[in-house]
Amino acid sequence: MTDQYAVIGNPIAFSKSPLIHASFAQATGQEIEYRKIEGPLGRFEETVAAFRAAGGKGLNITAPFKLDAFAYASEHSPAALLAGAANAIKFDGERVLAENFDGVGLVRDVVHNLGHALRGKRVLMLGAGGAARGALLPFLAEQPTELVIANRNVDKAQALARLGASRGQVRGCGYDALVGERFDLVFNATSASLVGELPPVPATVFASAALAYELAYGKGLTPFLRLAQGAGVRQLADGVGMLAEQAAEAFAWWRGVRPDTRAVIGQLAIALV
Ligand code: ATR
Repeated sequence: MTDQYAVIGNPIAFSKSPLIHASFAQATGQEIEYRKIEGPLGRFEETVAAFRAAGGKGLNITAPFKLDAFAYASEHSPAALLAGAANAIKFDGERVLAENFDGVGLVRDVVHNLGHALRGKRVLMLGAGGAARGALLPFLAEQPTELVIANRNVDKAQALARLGASRGQVRGCGYDALVGERFDLVFNATSASLVGELPPVPATVFASAALAYELAYGKGLTPFLRLAQGAGVRQLADGVGMLAEQAAEAFAWWRGVRPDTRAVIGQLAIALV
């Protein structure tokens, strides 16, 4: 029987994961089946148990089940532990292994695909929720001069910064504290763009920035990217590369072969206009 994989979420209709993994499987000659599962709310465990019983080997997990997947797993990677959330699981007999590839996918996109080293740079991350949490350790592992986390709720930004304090130079603050500061790379890890809002970031943070990166994917030129563009930032990016790279990490973890992401990124990229 062909090895079964799936992405589980609710809603799930618009997930690009089946397309991405089908493309990876074809390119690497791996025989897998990959589908979407719309998990009924409150019934994550039984839905996953049925998938395993039918020969399921692994899952990608998207909203709102990342915390359920973490709780369901028997073993957790350091990235999953820090995020307290899983975006991929693998079944190995009775063991259920949890991973979180969002942060490593983001860093790989920025460094490898977009060609921006974080090492020695001043990096600003907006937001201190789940997406920011996933990026924290992968960012610090790249050794930026300083990572600043800005959030409306300042306590959350400072609490997140404390989690990374032993790994590098990181501090949390509110948006007001960004006045007069400049950064080389600016990331929007808030969920503001999902509802067409702009985090209250002063445009001056972009004065010498080489890259503005919106972690959300498929929203075109969001208010954040528009502000960066108006401030003269040379390169704008959305999360399409992050999406492809986290998928490639999961594929490699499951199948032992890492697919190239270029074709998938080319297929899914949406013009930032
Ligand atoms: P996610 O998993 O997408 O990170 P989350 O954990 O709910 O979602 O976190 C949402 C993040 O976006 C938070 O940092 C939130 O800021 P607060 O903690 O201050 O609420 C941020 N956010 C959402 N809407 C925003 C807006 N309009 N402006 C600025 N920040 C916003």
